[in-house]
Amino acid sequence: MYQRREITTQERIAQERFCEKIKERIARRPHYALVDTYGCQQNESDSEILRGWLVRCGYELTEDVDKADVVVVNTCAVREHAEKRVLGNVGALSHNKAKDPDLIVCVGGCMTQQPVMREKIKNSYRVVDLVFGPHEVWQFPELLLGTMERRDRRDRKRRLIAAAPSEGVVAEGLPRRRDSGVKAWLSIMNGCDNFCSYCIVPYVRGRERSRRPADVLAEARALVAGGYRDITLLGQNVNSYGKGLDEAVDFPDLLAHIDEIDGDYVLRFMTSHPKDATDKLFRVMGGSGHCAHHIHLPLQSGSDRILKRMNRRYDRAAYLEKVAAARKAMPDLVLTTDIIVGFPGETEADFRDTLSLVEEVGFDAMFTFLFSPRTGTPAASMPDPVSRAEKQAWFDELLALANRISGEKHAAYVGGTYRVLVDGETGQTPYNLSARTRGGRLVHLAGDPALVGRFVQARITASSTWALDGELA
Ligand code: SAH
Ligand code: SF4
Ligand code: F3S
Repeated sequence: MYQRREITTQERIAQERFCEKIKERIARRPHYALVDTYGCQQNESDSEILRGWLVRCGYELTEDVDKADVVVVNTCAVREHAEKRVLGNVGALSHNKAKDPDLIVCVGGCMTQQPVMREKIKNSYRVVDLVFGPHEVWQFPELLLGTMERRDRRDRKRRLIAAAPSEGVVAEGLPRRRDSGVKAWLSIMNGCDNFCSYCIVPYVRGRERSRRPADVLAEARALVAGGYRDITLLGQNVNSYGKGLDEAVDFPDLLAHIDEIDGDYVLRFMTSHPKDATDKLFRVMGGSGHCAHHIHLPLQSGSDRILKRMNRRYDRAAYLEKVAAARKAMPDLVLTTDIIVGFPGETEADFRDTLSLVEEVGFDAMFTFLFSPRTGTPAASMPDPVSRAEKQAWFDELLALANRISGEKHAAYVGGTYRVLVDGETGQTPYNLSARTRGGRLVHLAGDPALVGRFVQARITASSTWALDGELA
């Protein structure tokens, strides 16, 4: 049975003590740590906590693997491609370990929550010293210290494989190292209860659990006070926020509360499951001073037959109704989506339904994926007669359509002037700055790097499939 479990202050303080012990051990010379992240924003967010812990433990952060004393690989399991890439990179660390036997290699993240993967890493990737999952991020210092101590004892079972006892944890007050001083992830919940038939996430991230609204609000206030200008609320399905909390609060309520925080900032969120996106949500977004007029509303397929087999619990008509309601509340809405091509049993006719729905909706941007069977999910054992070559041809056709529509949407910006947030430097010339419209469209600008973190007016001069070029107005 799933149980929500909040980490106590004592448990957190115990972790701080493990940090102190590690700090003493590595005090003789500077030590460096590298965190390599795969997958979605949830993993990016977890990596920020891992970096926060490592800094507390006395490490300096590095991007240079040759310099690192600790490497943490934060993995993703959503598609086979992601897993292969991770395993290749973990395997390559044996060269580093050959040069520096003291190197500590840790593998965390969603991939490690699958028992078969834990076995595979244990048996075939001797380079790995510690395996832990997303539910154990809160106790990383304890696991890292344990790894060091086993090493000291030359323990035959030197490698530490954390057993994931903590599924369902909600942990507050963990340290965090954010990459940017402008953009911040704010995780509001974890896990997923939807069990879409193709998806591994509910198995590796566990059941849905929400942070308390007071904790989320306190973090949002601190971010705004700290100068952050772009805050993205994170959850696998933010629309089911609040389930299981004592307070009666849903996602639109939370959004409205955060929106009350004074300051010049943009509030974004992802991801939103279409079945739970309500008129109330669209109303709050439309009436808010801070919310981006952007929804990422994953469609997955335009065929009712396939949507049913995917267990998405909406159909084509319902999806179109949501889009119409959202656009009514926000006429300037930017709409993006995810689509899977080649789901088991998908026919040419099903695929044509997807093309026609994509054309009808007109997405500003689309993320398209070839179906990847994930062991343990229902879709992995469904008959899948269509050849890889045919799926690839469908994929290419969808991508061409997506690019054409995005190109047209972007072209409509040219000549207009928009308020954008300058959020970083590109390292390129002449467009050395990157910025985002309120709807989240990427704008390349030329200007003083001191503008990073500021809202400016940009006149759009050119467009492409993925971005806009502009000049300061
Ligand atoms: N919780 C989010 C994101 C889940 S993963 C949501 O529901 O939208 C991000 C995307 O990966 C999904 O939207 C889906 O399009 C894709 N995806 C998930 N599992 C997949 C699989 N087995 N094969 C191919 N694409 C997949
Ligand atoms: Fe996966 Fe569906 Fe949950 Fe998204 S809503 S994480 S696609 S199971
Ligand atoms: Fe990947 Fe885990 Fe995110 S499987 S997509 S990193 S929730």
